[in-house]
Amino acid sequence: MNEETAANRALWDARARVHGTTAEDRFYDVPSFLAGRQTLYGIERDLAGDVKGRDLLHLHCHFGMDTLNWARLGARATGTDFSPAAISRARELTVRAGLRADFVEADAQQLPQELAARFDLAIATYGVLCWIADLDAWMRSAAMTLRPGGALIMVDLHPLFQTVATFDPFVADWPYGGGRQQQETVVGTYADANVHMEALDAAQYPYSLGEIVTAAVRAGLHIDSLREHTEAEFDPRGILPRRADGLYHLPFSATHLPVLYSLKATLPASPLR
Ligand SMILES: C[S@@+](CC[C@H](N)C(=O)[O-])C[C@H]1O[C@@H](n2cnc3c(N)ncnc32)[C@H](O)[C@@H]1O
Repeated sequence: MNEETAANRALWDARARVHGTTAEDRFYDVPSFLAGRQTLYGIERDLAGDVKGRDLLHLHCHFGMDTLNWARLGARATGTDFSPAAISRARELTVRAGLRADFVEADAQQLPQELAARFDLAIATYGVLCWIADLDAWMRSAAMTLRPGGALIMVDLHPLFQTVATFDPFVADWPYGGGRQQQETVVGTYADANVHMEALDAAQYPYSLGEIVTAAVRAGLHIDSLREHTEAEFDPRGILPRRADGLYHLPFSATHLPVLYSLKATLPASPLR
């Protein structure tokens, strides 16, 4: 593991130890999850369809709440993440929730052969590719886990939204794609602004939609759908205004810019020519 991946893993280990443990946590309310709250959003659920009895791999599973919600919907769920702290908490949560799921510690760019060709669905959502140095390796790895006919489903922050620091005034300070490493010292966590955490270095990587789709095609996947969403059920970065209908959007003049994208891509039953 290189220095940047090791630093990112230290950051996610620290976050995995804290997330869902404080009363003010915006994202990870563990007691309500244990009481039955569904943590998955409409976009990924609609794309996945009925998951009952399906073998589902949840990539970047963090401490497992979404993985376990796929299990609640009837999937045979496996979660994977490179953070040992996240995997250990996910296993504990599985027991507390009285559910069944497997968890595998692995770098998503090099998933182990034990996961090869085993899944009907590989799902990755909300805060995924910005952590990945080698986009092609990530896509090959995800594609490798699918059975022929299986699908990769991604829902993530739109690369345009990632460029925006503030929208009033409109300031964009992150590259739109290119994959060049962006070094940052991270203080605290998006989940709870009040929690004290040691400042840690992290490396992030911006990818454009074109680069993401091209990587999927290069990995042998067939693109079923690519959608750009101008509204979200939650505010992934804590900067978006909420409309009267409860949805969050990114205003720009009289219109809105995209905040999320969703992708469904299938591993063909026989290789495409
Ligand atoms: C923003 S979180 C994803 C959150 C998830 N959607 C949720 O809400 O539970 C990003 C996750 O990606 C994981 N991650 C980052 N880089 C990774 C890598 N190279 N391989 C595997 N997991 C990685 C982190 O450990 C973290 O759990």
